[in-house]
Amino acid sequence: MKGKLLTFLDRKLYEFLEKHVDVMPLRFTKMIAFYYCDARTRKLYFRKLGITMGENTYANLGLKVVRNDGDFSVTVGSNVSIAPNVVFVCESTANNGREINTLPYVRDVMTGGGNITVGDEVWIGANVTVLQGVTIGKCSMIGAGSVVIHDVEPFSLYVGVPARKIRDLRTGERVTTG
Ligand SMILES: CC(C)(COP(=O)(O)OP(=O)(O)OC[C@H]1O[C@@H](n2cnc3c(N)ncnc32)[C@H](O)[C@@H]1OP(=O)(O)O)[C@@H](O)C(=O)NCCC(=O)NCCS
Repeated sequence: MKGKLLTFLDRKLYEFLEKHVDVMPLRFTKMIAFYYCDARTRKLYFRKLGITMGENTYANLGLKVVRNDGDFSVTVGSNVSIAPNVVFVCESTANNGREINTLPYVRDVMTGGGNITVGDEVWIGANVTVLQGVTIGKCSMIGAGSVVIHDVEPFSLYVGVPARKIRDLRTGERVTTG
C-alpha cells in the first residue's frame, strides 16, 4: 500500500513538473535539475539548462552546468553513467570582476566557452570537472576527481589533474602519455 502510494505520488509529481518545465523560473529549474530526488525529472530540467542526454543516461545528484544564457551546450550520448558532483564548465569568465576582465590575457585567452560532447557508454567518476570545448570519446572512463581539459580518446581510461590517458580499456594495458 505504502509503495503504491509513493509510486502514484512520484508519477503525479513527475507529470506536474513535466508540464511546468517551460514556465519555471531559472532558479527553480536549476534547483530541480541539481538536487531533485528523481533522476527522470532532473533529466527534463537539464534539457532546459542546455544539457541533453541520450537514452538510458541518467545523472547522479549534484551534476552542474556552468554556462551563461546560451551560446554553449552539453550533449551527452546514450547509456552514459555520471557519478555524483560532476561539473561541466561550458563558459568561463570572472563574473564579478571589473579590472581583471580588462587584462588582455584574461579577456582574450582565459575567458570564453565551448560545447562539451560526451560519447555513448562513457563512465564519468565522482567529482570530475570537464572544461569547455572537450569531447569525450565513446566507451571511455574518467577517474574520480579528474579535471578534463583536452579531448579524451575512445575506449580509454583517463585520470588526474589534468586528466591523462593511463589505460586502453579494450586490452587493459597501461599506457604513458606526455
Ligand atoms: C580509475 C579507477 C577506476 C581505477 O582504475 P584502475 O585501472 O584500477 O587504476 P589503478 O588502480 O591500476 O591505478 C593506476 C594509476 O592511476 C592512479 N589513479 C587511479 N585512479 C585515479 C584517480 N581517480 N585520480 C588520479 N589518479 C588515479 C593510481 O594512483 C595509479 O598510479 P601509479 O601507477 O602512479 O601508482 C578508480 O581509481 C576510480 O577513480 N574510480 C572512480 C570511481 C567512482 O567515481 N565511482 C562513482 C560511483 S559509480
